[in-house]
Amino acid sequence: MAISIAAIDPARPDFAGEVSGIDLAAPITPADAAAIDAGMARFAVLVFRDQRITDEQQVAFSRHFGPLEEATGDLRPVAERRISMALNDISNLDQSGKVMARDDRRRLFSLGNMLWHSDSSFKAAPARYSLLSARVIPGAGGNTEFADMRAAYDALDDETKAMIQDLVCEHSQIYSRGALGFTEFTEQEMRQCAPVKQRLVRRHPVSGRKSLFLSAHIGAIDGMPVPEARMLIRDLTEHATQREFVYAHVWRPFDLVMWDNRATMHRARRYDATQVRDMRRTTVSDEVSTLEQVA
Ligand code: OGA
Ligand code: MN
Repeated sequence: MAISIAAIDPARPDFAGEVSGIDLAAPITPADAAAIDAGMARFAVLVFRDQRITDEQQVAFSRHFGPLEEATGDLRPVAERRISMALNDISNLDQSGKVMARDDRRRLFSLGNMLWHSDSSFKAAPARYSLLSARVIPGAGGNTEFADMRAAYDALDDETKAMIQDLVCEHSQIYSRGALGFTEFTEQEMRQCAPVKQRLVRRHPVSGRKSLFLSAHIGAIDGMPVPEARMLIRDLTEHATQREFVYAHVWRPFDLVMWDNRATMHRARRYDATQVRDMRRTTVSDEVSTLEQVA
């Protein structure tokens, strides 16, 4: 059965596609992987419904698109992990499978996922693709929203485009967590969270489209006073996350959603924190810093 990809909203033919004709639990062919890669370059978000995959199958599928990141983006020590280091544990569960207490530090840290962000923008080599598989979802809420940073860039006026063209931002999880009042980091965590620099405007290597590389992890812009920098980032984020640029994914169990962090931002939405939400994410590294990419 051949892969086909169709826009979820026909009014937005280049953002958010649904893929059919593929079973991610089985090995895929190089032609399938190429078709998915081409679909990502066009749609930036791809939805695969009804994929009953194991962690191993998710990892095997993800590896077709490049080297995977280790899951170091949360506060879980290796010894306390529920799942393999190849997957980010995007759940509200502790290592024994119980819903975390309301004041659990790991839970409060993970609430940062509810701010608009691009995955691992705080790493020198940020994320290319993220693949999120829903295993157990709450009865209501908990959608994930995606914003198209290419369309948002295109809609800027020429003065703004010229003004931001060469700006370089500092990204750190200290900034995103700080925005929620989560400020108690150990010295070791502070060292791990040393800011990294990324370009604010980037060009997609396949589609050639420019996009805004925004993220809640941004806390400063080179050569700009901090309040001015943060105001500019807020302003651009408000622009880029208007509803016309947003696709809201309503999860069903065993959906897998794959997105291009070079061209989108995303956020989780609220849900009843006493209910189980078990999601697992594999992350393909982009391998180089945006500073090394041609503008
Ligand atoms: C992520 C993330 C959002 C969600 O997995 O990177 O931000 O809805 N998830 O869980
Ligand atoms: Mn994320």
